[in-house]
Amino acid sequence: MRHGHNAIVDQQFGGQAQAYVSSAAHSSGPDLERLAQSAQGWSGAKVLDLGCGGGHVSYTIAPHVANVVACDLSQQMVDAVCTQARRRGMANIETRQAAAEALPFERGEFDAVVCRMSAHHWQDLDAGLREARRVLKAGSPAIFIDVISPGDPMLDTHLQAVELLRDRSHVRDYRIEEWSAALGRAGFNLERVSTHALPMEFASWVARMKTPGALAAAIRSLQAEASAATRDAFDIREDGSFTIRIATFEITAA
Ligand SMILES: C[S@@+](CC[C@H](N)C(=O)[O-])C[C@H]1O[C@@H](n2cnc3c(N)ncnc32)[C@H](O)[C@@H]1O
Repeated sequence: MRHGHNAIVDQQFGGQAQAYVSSAAHSSGPDLERLAQSAQGWSGAKVLDLGCGGGHVSYTIAPHVANVVACDLSQQMVDAVCTQARRRGMANIETRQAAAEALPFERGEFDAVVCRMSAHHWQDLDAGLREARRVLKAGSPAIFIDVISPGDPMLDTHLQAVELLRDRSHVRDYRIEEWSAALGRAGFNLERVSTHALPMEFASWVARMKTPGALAAAIRSLQAEASAATRDAFDIREDGSFTIRIATFEITAA
């Protein structure tokens, strides 16, 4: 059977919504701490959480702002966030199902946009960034957070290979330079970029995406055969756990 990319994303994430709500790798981190600090300066703002997944950006910023719209391609993800927001008593979070590349919002409707760990799944990064810029007021802040490629071709190929084996909705972990260029093309000014390391525990990393056993074994085989430089760069452990880098791009709409 032939599937469009968005159908693949929906299949991958739809059934796993609860796993993303409770994921330790997604519910904490220095990026969320910094985001909470930024959001303290956004009182009164209407904020878009683009590719909200299990909703951790929304729960982090909701106490500081007027409204959050948590938006995701997967209706099941959006439903899980709706339930969780109610459980947490966060009445200022509303939800919307939509693809980043075609947002159902007005031009300049938002005072801030945050997008965390989603863009590497998008079929069209440029279109998604253009839409994020369109719905944001001129001069307003946005924060994009995502896994980045180390750049070196050998390391880049290893990273994209294990990501795709684990999750067929993976498109690309971009280099910082690719991100910076794409943000500029979409009409954003880059104010600050920072990075941090994120250790991924192998068993929960594949369980979260229900990676078939044969593909998880293929990842372990790639890791076992990888060069010493690749093993060192990703700090690949005996159990397959490894470390990726996350970049936070703090930008403003030009
Ligand atoms: C890893 S989860 C996001 C995690 C979440 N933002 C957080 O901080 O915990 C990636 C999410 O991106 C969504 N996604 C992937 N492609 C998308 C697209 N083109 N438009 C909107 N959402 C998309 C997926 O459905 C999934 O829920």
